[in-house]
Amino acid sequence: MAARRSIGIVVNGVTGRMGYRQHLVRSLLAIREQGGVPLAGGGHIWPEPILVGRDPDKLAAIAAQHGLTEWTTDLDAALARPDAEIYFDSQVTSQREKAIRQAIAAGKHVYTEKPLAESSAASIELAELAESAGVRNGVVQDKLFLPGLRKLKRLIDGGFFGQILSVRGEFGYWVFEGDWQVAQRPSWNYRLADGGGIVMDMFPHWNYVLEELFGNVRTVQATTATHITERVDERGETYTADADDAAYAIFELEGGIVAQLNSSWTVRVNRDELVEFQVDGTHGSAVAGLRGCKIQHRATTPKPVWNPDLPLTGKSFRDEWTEVPDNEEFDNGFKVQWEAFLRHVVAGETFHWDFRSGARGVRLAEAGLQSAREGKRIEL
Ligand SMILES: NC(=O)c1ccc[n+]([C@@H]2O[C@H](COP(=O)([O-])OP(=O)(O)OC[C@H]3O[C@@H](n4cnc5c(N)ncnc54)[C@H](O)[C@@H]3O)[C@@H](O)[C@H]2O)c1
Repeated sequence: MAARRSIGIVVNGVTGRMGYRQHLVRSLLAIREQGGVPLAGGGHIWPEPILVGRDPDKLAAIAAQHGLTEWTTDLDAALARPDAEIYFDSQVTSQREKAIRQAIAAGKHVYTEKPLAESSAASIELAELAESAGVRNGVVQDKLFLPGLRKLKRLIDGGFFGQILSVRGEFGYWVFEGDWQVAQRPSWNYRLADGGGIVMDMFPHWNYVLEELFGNVRTVQATTATHITERVDERGETYTADADDAAYAIFELEGGIVAQLNSSWTVRVNRDELVEFQVDGTHGSAVAGLRGCKIQHRATTPKPVWNPDLPLTGKSFRDEWTEVPDNEEFDNGFKVQWEAFLRHVVAGETFHWDFRSGARGVRLAEAGLQSAREGKRIEL
C-alpha cells in the first residue's frame, strides 16, 4: 500500500457554522472518506484534525460524533504539539488576528477563513510575518470553485464574450430579524464592535472573484445602509444592529470593465440563485449563479423594441438563454481548496490564494467603507 502522510491540523472555531459544516465535515472528513489527498509521486495526505474551541462539551460531542479523539480548549497546547503542522482559523473575525500571530510564532503553516484580519494594515502585517517565518499561508476563496463560476471562467478562457464590458452581480437574501422567526446568521454579523457588517463579509469575496475572472479592482464607490436597526440574538435578547446590512457598489477594473455588485441581507430573492453575476460582452453574455450558468450569443440575441402599450407575447426574454453544460464533476469548493492547500504544504505545489491576496480583499472592504463614509470614489 502507498505511504500515508499524516498531517495534524488545528481546527479553531470548529463549533461554528463554517468551521463545522464546510471545513470539518465537508472538507477534512470528506477527504478522509475518499482515502486522503493523492500525491503525484504516490501515497496520500491524511488530515488529522485537532479540534479547538471554547466549549468543552461541544468539542467532545463533535469529536464523539465523528470518531475523533483530539480536542482541547487550550490553543497554546494545541500549537505546542509537534504533529500539528497546520493552524486553521474559522473563529469569529475579531478573534482571528491574535490567534494567527500565535500560530505563526509557533512555526505552523496557516490557512484561514476570510477576512484575514479586521484591517488591511493588520492583514499585510500577517502576510509579512508569515513570509519572514517561512510558513505557507492561505485564505479561503471558496466562491472561485463554485460550479457556476467555474463555467463562467471556462467561457472567459474560451473567448466566448469577445470584449467584456460589464459585470452586474446580485448577492443576498432576507436574514430574519430573530423576533418571530429565528435568524439564520449569527448575531455578531450585525454588530460593528464584534466585526460584523456585510462589506467586511462580502467585499473580500468580491475582490478575489473580480481579480481572478475580470481584472484587478482600480476604484470603488459604495453606498452602504443599515436597513434593519434592531434584531434579536441567539438568546432571544433584542440588540441594536449597527453594522451595514446592505452595500451597493461600483468597481472599475483594470482594462476598463465596470462591475456593479449589490450585497444585501435585507432583500427577498427573485432570482434563480442566491448570487448571480451577469456578464455582458461584445460577442455574448452570461448569467452565472452558484451552480448554473446560462448564455446568449450575439447571433441569438433578440431585438426588443420599446413599446409599453403592447403586452409581451410569445417567449419570455428569460427563455432566450441556453444552459452551459457541466462537462465535468464539480466537488465541494471548500474541499477542493483544502486539497490544494494540503498539496501546497506537503508537496510544495503552487497556491496563489495566499495572505497577500487575502489582504487585498480586506483592503477593498476598507476602501468600500471609506467610500460610503466620505461619499466619494476611492482609488486603490
Ligand atoms: N467563506 C465563506 O463563504 C464564509 C461564510 C460565512 C462566514 N465566513 C467566515 O467564517 C468565520 C466564522 O463565521 P461563522 O458564520 O461560522 O460564525 P459562527 O458564529 O457560526 O462561528 C464562530 C466560531 O468562533 C468561535 N469564537 C471564538 N471566539 C469567539 C468570541 N469571542 N465570540 C463568539 N464566537 C467566538 C465560536 O465558538 C464559533 O466556533 C467568519 O470570519 C466569517 O467571515 C466565511
